[in-house]
Amino acid sequence: MRAVVITKERTVEVTEVPDPHLTGPDGVIVEVEATAICGSDLHLFHGMLPEGGVHPGHEVVGRIVEVGSKVTDRAVGDRVLVSAVVGCGHCHPCRIGDPIRCPNGGPIALGTTGQLDGGQAELLAVPAGDLFTIPVPEGVSTENAILLTDILPTGFLGAQMGSIEPGDTVAIFGMGPVGIMALACAQLYGPSAIYAVDVVPDRLARAAAMGAVAIDASGDMGALGVLEVTGGRGVDVAIEAVGLRQTVSDAISCVAARGRISMVGVNVEMDFPFPMALAFLKALSFRAAFAAIPSTWSNLVPLVTSGTLDLGDVFTHHLGLSEAPAAYTMFDEHSHGVLKVLLDPRR
Ligand SMILES: NC(=O)c1ccc[n+]([C@@H]2O[C@H](COP(=O)([O-])OP(=O)(O)OC[C@H]3O[C@@H](n4cnc5c(N)ncnc54)[C@H](O)[C@@H]3O)[C@@H](O)[C@H]2O)c1
Ligand SMILES: [Zn+2]
Ligand SMILES: [Zn+2]
Repeated sequence: MRAVVITKERTVEVTEVPDPHLTGPDGVIVEVEATAICGSDLHLFHGMLPEGGVHPGHEVVGRIVEVGSKVTDRAVGDRVLVSAVVGCGHCHPCRIGDPIRCPNGGPIALGTTGQLDGGQAELLAVPAGDLFTIPVPEGVSTENAILLTDILPTGFLGAQMGSIEPGDTVAIFGMGPVGIMALACAQLYGPSAIYAVDVVPDRLARAAAMGAVAIDASGDMGALGVLEVTGGRGVDVAIEAVGLRQTVSDAISCVAARGRISMVGVNVEMDFPFPMALAFLKALSFRAAFAAIPSTWSNLVPLVTSGTLDLGDVFTHHLGLSEAPAAYTMFDEHSHGVLKVLLDPRR
């Protein structure tokens, strides 16, 4: 089959690789109909790669073409969406949809560690298919199904961990696809204002069209911009959807006393310089997590199908898998008005 491979820093190829095998008797093989590039794939693109490179892709919608002998609730022919993160499939957390707490070698984000190949390919092997896939629900478009595999649950988590109360003020750092999801989800909680912080003009314009107050962070003006528009008070909640030292620091600097910081942008530094003095002086709450994706589906699917969550046209580019190398560069550079790229493995 054809698959995307990141061989080394900033080197993406589309190449012929062996077809995947079932991961075990509970596994399924999915013929990929649509997949997408995530900001997390950019960490790989920037060189945070396992030895020998990686077959990326953790956002997948497709049709099941093979099931293991122990799969009971899925069958060949089912059209499914796949959780970006999986676990052992046996433990209690995995069974309740929270592979993040899997104690048996999990969680694993597909196509990031080299343990499980990803879905920017024609075929994808998924462990514990009964738990880590669901049939694409009636009334959910392919694009929204892709969003449900990863970044909508992540944006939802960003809003949830902020414990937003009606009337609160919220700043969101990063208006990439994850930040846009966080913005849509934060609006469900009735904040009095949402400040959307980024450096890319078309992303700020999109956030403004969704009802946020856009703040251009160029020239290190992120936190200062939020403080300026709030008359120096700062915000009740800051959601971090970038993952850079700068934006974590901005989030901490721009919250008011008793501020809550919710971090979904990925930063896995072990020696991160955390400003303890500010934590004490402001009585901060700071939470950071990966989303427990399958556990969010029962909440999110009705919000999407009812139109309560209006996600708009997040996918600015529909390209073929063969165009993945150019798509990675464009997504990394924020060029051509890109927000999110959908890749079709048949092209
Ligand atoms: N926690 C999870 O479960 C989870 C899941 C998916 C993605 N993520 C993470 O979310 C993050 C965002 O993903 P994405 O797909 O939206 O990626 P993205 O790269 O498209 O978005 C990042 C955005 O941050 C903006 N930015 C850069 N510097 C900034 C600054 N100084 N101030 C304000 N904004 C700035 C960029 O312009 C861009 O729009 C990534 O770190 C990704 O790994 C986390
Ligand atoms: Zn992702
Ligand atoms: Zn488990």
